[in-house]
Amino acid sequence: MERRQFLGTSLALGAGSALLTTGCAPSRAQPAATPVPAVPTGPIRLNSNENPLGLSPAARDALLRDLSEANRYPRQSRTDLIAALAAKHGVLPEQVQLGAGSTEILQMVVQSTAADATIVIAEPTFEDVNRYAVTARRRVVAVPLRPDGSHDLERMRAAVGSGPALVFICNPNNPTGTLTSCDEVDAWMQREQERVLFVVDEAYFEFAEDPGYRSAVSWAITRPNVVVVRTFSKIYGMAGMRLGYAIAQTPTCERLRALACGNNANELALAAGLAALADSGFQQRTLSVNRASRQILTRALDQLGLSYLPSHTNFVMHRIPGEVATYNTRMRDAGFLVGRAFPPMLTYSRVSLGVPDEMERFTRTLRDFRERAWV
Ligand SMILES: Cc1ncc(COP(=O)(O)O)c(C=O)c1O
Repeated sequence: MERRQFLGTSLALGAGSALLTTGCAPSRAQPAATPVPAVPTGPIRLNSNENPLGLSPAARDALLRDLSEANRYPRQSRTDLIAALAAKHGVLPEQVQLGAGSTEILQMVVQSTAADATIVIAEPTFEDVNRYAVTARRRVVAVPLRPDGSHDLERMRAAVGSGPALVFICNPNNPTGTLTSCDEVDAWMQREQERVLFVVDEAYFEFAEDPGYRSAVSWAITRPNVVVVRTFSKIYGMAGMRLGYAIAQTPTCERLRALACGNNANELALAAGLAALADSGFQQRTLSVNRASRQILTRALDQLGLSYLPSHTNFVMHRIPGEVATYNTRMRDAGFLVGRAFPPMLTYSRVSLGVPDEMERFTRTLRDFRERAWV
């Protein structure tokens, strides 16, 4: 089934089941039926590492049911989601801090640092920490990734200096999709002083299937200087709803909380998030679609001789000859949005994995580009 057809059908089903669960009585004047949201048109969006399956059916139903609470400030739903996250990670509710997307957590951690703190990041990595650090006038040291795409922890450690510091470790890393050895990260955390705050961004945690990969949550529970950041934007398919969270020790969480916007997670996102967490079928479907799509893409890249970094995520960073800007314009003309430029990797393109049909079309376009000598 085509993605558009799939989405249209499931949206209609989602709206229908919400009507059933809210017990629609036929005798009273009914408001007009909930319109089925328009199916997106335009280019295929392979540029922001979103979940191509849309919202999970359970989350969609929960959201529609919760519309009657949209005029209220979030209360119970916030408590419920925090309790569910605490149970999932084996922590106390006060060790969970919500954000309007995980990017708000990243903003909080940067703002929580001392004015003279050094912020150490990899290059390239997810840009928001650098952006917030520049706004907050913190000193940033960017350490190039190793050739295999892992964080160069030795050089990052050397960059920390003797004062307060924040070390940002994005694992798996965006935009490269690569892993950094958890053993190495653990060894550093174990011996580092508390003046160094580790922020481990696990936005793509669920996609990483390497047996050596594990979460840093156990460190966040045992050390005051470790914050783990997670998002509902990827495996849970909720990028547009803005929901993320941090796991950290209670005093660390309290410091972050002081910097959060009041009521920062909205009622509908909370309701959808709670349902999405429990919808393991949707998470499994996302992973199997992601695997199938990655295989379609990497097979084509292999055939075309375009090298790529090993992806542990829902995107692949692959070689392109020539400039990113020209390539992106040509891709846009062909009906695809692909990732922006990620300096210094200016001869690479990051393409997010859509559904298999989208990847078949994308790879046909790549082959067509080869015939024109564009790749
Ligand atoms: C590594 C990483 N961290 C954080 C984010 C921010 O996600 P959000 O604010 O949607 O939770 C992203 C978004 O793409 C990301 O790739």
